Amino acid sequence: MSEPTSDGAVTAYESIHDASLRDPEAFWRTAAEGIDWVTPPSRILDDSRAPFYRWYPDAELNVCFNAVDRHVAAGRGEQAAIHYDSPVTGTKSTMTYAVLLERVRAVAGGLRGLGVARGDRVVIYMPMVPEAVIAMLACARIGAIHSVVFGGFAPQELAARIDDAAPKVVLSASCGVEPTRIVPYKPFLDEAIRRSEHQPEHCVVLQREQLVAELGERDLDWGDFESGDAAREGSECVTVAATDPLYILYTSGTTGKPKGIYRDSGGYAVALRWSMANLYDVAPGETMFTASDVGWVVGHSYIVYAPLLTGATTVLYEGKPVGTPDAGAFWRVIAEYGAVCLFTAPTAFRAIKKDDSSASKVAEHDLSRFRALFLAGERLDPDTYEWASAALGKPVVDNWWQTETGWPIACNPKGIGLLPIKAGSPTVPVPGYDVQVLDGAGTPVEPGVEGAICIKLPMPPGTLPTLWGDDDRYVSSYLSAYPGYYLTGDGGYLDEDGYLYVMGRTDDVLNVAGHRLSTGSLEAALAGHEAVAECAVIGVHDELKGQVPRALVVLKSGVDADADGERIRRELVARVRAEVGAVAALHQVDIVAGLPKTRSGKILRKTMRELADGKTPAVPATIEDASVLETLTPVLRGPSA
Ligand code: COA
Ligand code: AMP
Repeated sequence: MSEPTSDGAVTAYESIHDASLRDPEAFWRTAAEGIDWVTPPSRILDDSRAPFYRWYPDAELNVCFNAVDRHVAAGRGEQAAIHYDSPVTGTKSTMTYAVLLERVRAVAGGLRGLGVARGDRVVIYMPMVPEAVIAMLACARIGAIHSVVFGGFAPQELAARIDDAAPKVVLSASCGVEPTRIVPYKPFLDEAIRRSEHQPEHCVVLQREQLVAELGERDLDWGDFESGDAAREGSECVTVAATDPLYILYTSGTTGKPKGIYRDSGGYAVALRWSMANLYDVAPGETMFTASDVGWVVGHSYIVYAPLLTGATTVLYEGKPVGTPDAGAFWRVIAEYGAVCLFTAPTAFRAIKKDDSSASKVAEHDLSRFRALFLAGERLDPDTYEWASAALGKPVVDNWWQTETGWPIACNPKGIGLLPIKAGSPTVPVPGYDVQVLDGAGTPVEPGVEGAICIKLPMPPGTLPTLWGDDDRYVSSYLSAYPGYYLTGDGGYLDEDGYLYVMGRTDDVLNVAGHRLSTGSLEAALAGHEAVAECAVIGVHDELKGQVPRALVVLKSGVDADADGERIRRELVARVRAEVGAVAALHQVDIVAGLPKTRSGKILRKTMRELADGKTPAVPATIEDASVLETLTPVLRGPSA
């Protein structure tokens, strides 16, 4: 799409945003034309059970058909659907839409052969290999609900997801490949199933040559599975209701129990297709490079579903921004596949900047087709924004959203026309979202005043209609703080021009290198150590990862901190790695005499976090014993690891 001047862009954005809020049904009726329906929607929004809203309540479709079959039928069969590029294994391959269709049909047939039917759940615990995408689409093809679990999570996290989703089948791989080590997925999976109450009937394991797994009784080899009789028979697309779940994606809250985000089929497909044209400015036939992981929402939406729903080409990159082999890796991939945009997290750019501060490697590659960099997952700090803009000489577009929403809440809508960029702001609310900043009483605040960022209901299509199997938790977590609004959990403000500034979480959710982690999970892992009486985890500022966790533990009486402290610290770091996963990146454990609490026993994590970040927090009047905080202050202000 062409880019109007800034004034034109402002007018275009404002009129589209206004239209989307003035008459959401008309707006999303038109957007629904981007999708092929089995039964087109006659009704657009069902608000009869508010605050539970449902988009396209009487429509039917198949998302896999929209992502694959229809492009082959329209003549895109020979176009690349997926470029798989894996510097960690030295492998590259390209899959056309025609081949993708053939393989998805086969795997869908294989799943049916294992008894998986519409509405059944399938857990996918896989690294960044094409089979992970095939697995997701094969589930969508037969109306099964996939739940992808990020490969960096350890058995306990996987077990919690298996218990909640209760999958009939798990699709996995023998291993993941990290730059410095092989990650053995199969033993992790076995351990997770040993810990979970729910027992899947089968596990299908993709054997990778880097580490071949031993298969047990319930296990099948992926190769046999994809070439067996059921796969040869294949499966056509099963029609589902637009309101049926496409997937469950678990995300971290403050407790140790992950939240299963319920993603519907029709609304999500419409929103993603609309976003590709209007927000990301990617057209059918063009290539999008999203450097994330299929285990996160960015991967679900912008590695897999949005590019494929658009008939674009996606890049599946199994590597890192640096070290595989160097800080020019992203530029090489962009040039090699002619990507028109890159989407990643600011952390990746901080890592590139650290290794190649003058951005000398950019000039080594032909980026002539590259148009924009999109960043999300954590706050884009102005320094990283300035560096990336100067390094690339192309627009750098921040976008703010979360697993719950599935696509951006605020961004600079490049497809509509780029608005003037203000460093530190993800720009403006996306059409469909009525973003308001509220004070403690639920009243919208003046421009420039910080408060809780909320979205007035109903949220647009694509966003979560509820939590998997838990309507009550959906209401208590997101809707009860301010009736009529969805609580994002982020704090920030709108300026005079309507630009949003997102300053950080108002709860204790951690964000480490763009990965969302729960304090509760980390604390549960620490509390399981025999020497620990009490503990708290806080997220402290980190130059590279944005935030890293820091643990404060109180030892049980009788444990000698002088003699055993070092060993206990080492064991605690290892426990978090084993129970939550390496991505938790917990390296600093401080043994302390006590934790500051309110009189009702709530640990003052926010106060400690602010102290650790060098701020001077307002100490709550409800503090039980102020001397505990005073004793702790020099520890918190001390060096972080
Ligand atoms: N499977 C298994 N382990 C994984 C993993 C996966 N999919 N992804 C990461 N890990 C491990 C890493 O190997 C590392 O282990 P180590 O402690 O043994 O070295 C640990 O988890 C921490 O990983 P990571 O957060 O990637 O940190 P890093 O120091 O290895 O690399 C960056 C730093 C900046 C290069 C990296 O964080 C990065 O690429 N960030 C981009 C962020 C991103 O894509 N976010 C997704 C949301 S958009
Ligand atoms: P996740 O659900 O893993 O995508 O994490 C969502 C959270 O990450 C949000 O609630 C924010 O706290 C943070 N986040 C994501 N994108 C941004 C952004 N562009 N700016 C600021 N914070 C962000």
